[in-house]
Amino acid sequence: MPNIVVVGTQWGDEGKGKVVDVLTPIVNVVVRYQGGNNAGHTVVVGRDKYVFHSIPSGILHRGCTCIIGCGVVIDPGSLIEELESLVQRGVALDGNLFISKNAHLIMPYHPALDLASEAHLGKRRIGTTGRGVGPAYMDKAARVGIRMADLLDERLFREKLEYNVAQKNRILREIYDAQTFGVEAIFQQYRRYAGWLAPYITDTALLLHRLIEAGRSVLFEGAQATMLDIDHGTYPYVTSSSTTAGGAATGTGVPPTKINGVLGISKAYCTRVGGGPFMTEVYGEMADRLRARGNEYGAVTGRPRRCGWADAVALRYAARINGLDTIALTKLDVLDTCETLRICVGYRYGGEVLTDFPEEERIWHEAEPVYEELEGWQDEIGGATAFGDLPAAARTYLERLQELVGVAIGVVSVGPGREQSLTAGGSGAPTLGG
Ligand code: IMP
Repeated sequence: MPNIVVVGTQWGDEGKGKVVDVLTPIVNVVVRYQGGNNAGHTVVVGRDKYVFHSIPSGILHRGCTCIIGCGVVIDPGSLIEELESLVQRGVALDGNLFISKNAHLIMPYHPALDLASEAHLGKRRIGTTGRGVGPAYMDKAARVGIRMADLLDERLFREKLEYNVAQKNRILREIYDAQTFGVEAIFQQYRRYAGWLAPYITDTALLLHRLIEAGRSVLFEGAQATMLDIDHGTYPYVTSSSTTAGGAATGTGVPPTKINGVLGISKAYCTRVGGGPFMTEVYGEMADRLRARGNEYGAVTGRPRRCGWADAVALRYAARINGLDTIALTKLDVLDTCETLRICVGYRYGGEVLTDFPEEERIWHEAEPVYEELEGWQDEIGGATAFGDLPAAARTYLERLQELVGVAIGVVSVGPGREQSLTAGGSGAPTLGG
């Protein structure tokens, strides 16, 4: 059985949770490898809606082992809330969830630093989710972070906490003129968290190694997306982790040689939440229409998402950086009412049309998108059960996108339900067909 990475190809919110949920019955393990509770992975089961922040989306399936890998940063309070709400809704947590000892903790001063830093950045603010994810990764890189294993070692935890609180209080007070923290309250609160979470904390890299040796197949659930990657995204308007497929290895301890494939998730159009460049952004009536039909509001913060046309330049870049084998295209039905559709095929900058995604911030802000226009299908496609059921214009749209990106579109979703996912015949079929 293969081990595959599921990765977002745009700026997040592509519907990764839904795709992971659909794929979970054919894998044994689902592991998150980066990000934290800045993620909001939505899964709709009948009339029930679940939004996962730190827990892998596979948890709804009995028999699936769910792992939070070492590359994730964990806010224990938020994680416990998520666990309790799942238990209340009847989801079993009986030896099916494991948390890496090496995962770093989000501490109460991290969200405070996140918000204070954003307030200071002014018009260059990133528009973070305010969950403290960036400052937690800062501490990890600075080698002063506190890990899940430390939570189980009272003396070491206190020592690291004392150092961090003293250091962060100076920054909060002297740079940001913000509220400071006391060691004792955090210590007591995190002792309680330790009691709660201790049964789940283990060496997950070793566990994954043993599971893979035993022939179990693993799905690596990416959070956020390619264009938000700390190295490959639209820096500095990115999140602080390695969201691309490469992060799956470092964020779990599974070597790249054990990973067999990468599935990219893309919306049929584009959205972005927060600040930063967005080459195909639209405004006015069309933006409102996409937002309303796609319910484009942040799953974590409720912020309205910025909306735009499909960007084949960025998507081809995502295909290259992640080594995509196949694309799952979500929310095609959101385009049902469009008279015409646009796909960006290049960026016009300085008298040239660029077709390879540029790395310069100035170009992202100043380039003009070059569009190809296609006819809309103006029909409801939510009831389609096979590719062949789709109107000709919808198939043309998919075929053109596939051609421009150079990767097969193997799955298309036409609505929020589990059953509204169409798969192309044959694995990695290069063309769409009946
Ligand atoms: P942070 O991850 O909270 O530091 O936010 C950094 C950037 O990533 C901001 O533009 C956020 O809006 C964006 N971001 C973080 N998580 C998500 C997500 O799950 N979906 C979409 N955007 C996200």
